[in-house]
Amino acid sequence: MNMSCRRVMFLLVIAFALGSKGYSQSLVPAIITFGDSSVDVGNNNYIPTLFKANYPPYGKDFINHQPTGRFCNGKLVTDITADTLQFTSYAPAYLSPQASGKNLLIGANFASAGGGYDDQTSTLNHAIPLSQQLQYYKEYQSKLAQVAGSTKSASIIKDAIYVLGAGSGDFLQNYYVNPLLNKAYTPEQYSSILVGIFSSFIKTMYGLGARKFGVTSLPPLGCLPLARTLFGFHGKGCVSNINTDAQQFNKKLNSSAASLQKQLPDLRLVIFDIFQPLYDLVKNPSSQGFVEATRGCCGTGTVETTVFLCNPNSPGTCSNASQYVFWDSVHPSQAANQILADALVLAGFALI
Ligand SMILES: *[C@@H]1O[C@H](CO)[C@@H](O)[C@H](O)[C@H]1NC(C)=O
Ligand SMILES: *[C@@H]1O[C@H](CO)[C@@H](O)[C@H](O)[C@H]1NC(C)=O
Repeated sequence: MNMSCRRVMFLLVIAFALGSKGYSQSLVPAIITFGDSSVDVGNNNYIPTLFKANYPPYGKDFINHQPTGRFCNGKLVTDITADTLQFTSYAPAYLSPQASGKNLLIGANFASAGGGYDDQTSTLNHAIPLSQQLQYYKEYQSKLAQVAGSTKSASIIKDAIYVLGAGSGDFLQNYYVNPLLNKAYTPEQYSSILVGIFSSFIKTMYGLGARKFGVTSLPPLGCLPLARTLFGFHGKGCVSNINTDAQQFNKKLNSSAASLQKQLPDLRLVIFDIFQPLYDLVKNPSSQGFVEATRGCCGTGTVETTVFLCNPNSPGTCSNASQYVFWDSVHPSQAANQILADALVLAGFALI
């Protein structure tokens, strides 16, 4: 079944659900998000860190061409998913002034660029550690109870979709560049540590009332322009040992998810495999109308700076990001995110 066919099918199912259940709005009450720059919608605007995306040309294809803190020219996969679920606005970044009152009813976003499963990754990058994101979530629960009342807030907490997107930074911005880690652990051992943190996180969230989780796998890390530049030694193609590490992590993540599913009654936990669709896109960009998959549209050429990402002084930002798989040296463009979101639609059924 091809992508657009999947989307049509999905929309039909949604239309049916809306018609039969008489929902007036979105298909789930709220989306609550944790993780790194793949899902951060602007928390880092409010903390002192180098990992920020609240300036042009970030957001140039977003609503009103606004840079928001999203590491993309436009929408993230999670934004596109929220659109599909019929949300008319996006859950606010928890540290933003918008995260108050009724806005909290559709969820909140706790993610922080530069962060990861490993709190040390976040500390190194001055991002919000996952453990702190969890503390914020507890605070969110009490604020939500004040806004919605205890009965309604309990049902929002139970029926919300919880999205977790992390792990890339743990490898690219910590493990591979941190001798304290890569001398002490093999990539496989480090993966086990990260997946252990993932598992405790899900258990803690379950204990707090969350039931439906969508967790992204690692992307093909070795195909990101950053990895090609830093670790590719000017070879052509993706860095295969890094992709192997990512797949090994993904395998462990899958088995941990399966075991959690057995242990925790009523848990619905879906792993969104973004490795394969992104890998396919990088290998064969023209099949989906893309022309460039090895460089980001913004800010990366042969010379990388400390922050690696694009900034207002990056020369030569491409004119049409829709033709690029990557927006900057790490993050897919909105056009690529659309392809990923389409690829995840069927898996997402399980959460509705
Ligand atoms: C993990 O599970 C997903 C969804 O079931 C599957 O598509 C993917 O191939 C699995 N990945 C690995 C590395 O086993
Ligand atoms: C940008 O590229 C896409 C994909 O190739 C194409 O469909 C679109 O028309 C282009 N937009 C502009 C303004 O050139």
